[in-house]
Amino acid sequence: MRIPMIAGNWKMNTTVTEAVALVREMRGGLDEIKNVEKVVCPPFVSLAAVKDLLKGASIKLGAQNVFFEEKGAYTGEVSPLMLAELCEYVIIGHSERRQYFNETDEIVNKKIKAVLKDGLKPILCVGEKLEENESGKTEEVVTGQVKSSLAGIGYTDKLVIAYEPVWAIGTGKAATSQQANDTIGLIRRTVSGLYGKEGALNLRILYGGSVSAANATDLMKQSEIDGALVGGASLKANDFVSIVRQAAQVKK
Ligand code: PGA
Repeated sequence: MRIPMIAGNWKMNTTVTEAVALVREMRGGLDEIKNVEKVVCPPFVSLAAVKDLLKGASIKLGAQNVFFEEKGAYTGEVSPLMLAELCEYVIIGHSERRQYFNETDEIVNKKIKAVLKDGLKPILCVGEKLEENESGKTEEVVTGQVKSSLAGIGYTDKLVIAYEPVWAIGTGKAATSQQANDTIGLIRRTVSGLYGKEGALNLRILYGGSVSAANATDLMKQSEIDGALVGGASLKANDFVSIVRQAAQVKK
């Protein structure tokens, strides 16, 4: 049985004051919902404050990025060792990192190795661009990203994968639940090739890209979809709580 997971990716939004206010607003509602792993991923600078606020709550904390070295002369970077004191999860290889900061599968692979060493749980993001989707390359692109990102990494129950088609992120145009389910099924088969059937069956694979309170139930009804990575809607307390509640209802 895979425990469903809903993670909020706040991206570069919220000051520390705003992050604290947002968590205060959603904490009570989220805490009541059982059987779903709830994760919020605020910006680095808010992790410590949000961690304090979540003491005793069932809500977990994640970061949005990380560097692959443990320490040293890398001005401005944040290491897995630093994050390990603050949070449990870390999003790696988000399409915005790939697009604006030139992150390649090779870098993503190094980051996953580095965070696992320090006991963090990576949420690996993969997904095809619009032109790749339109030219029928989804399978090739997504399979390639999964294999390269996980090269040399043995099975671990810490890994989570998020399938986020780039054309669906922040556009209000989510993949249909059928499309999302099909591609996530493909990812699971790819992972089965790497870690065997058992490993693939245990792995949680989330969908991300314009998930909202309006489409969450439909997406969560799909058998391959184990949860969601939510961007925009995770910044609205009511919407985020509603998405988590829908996941809990559908997956119970
Ligand atoms: P969105 O973002 O929900 O705003 O589309 C999802 C993501 O980028 O993780």
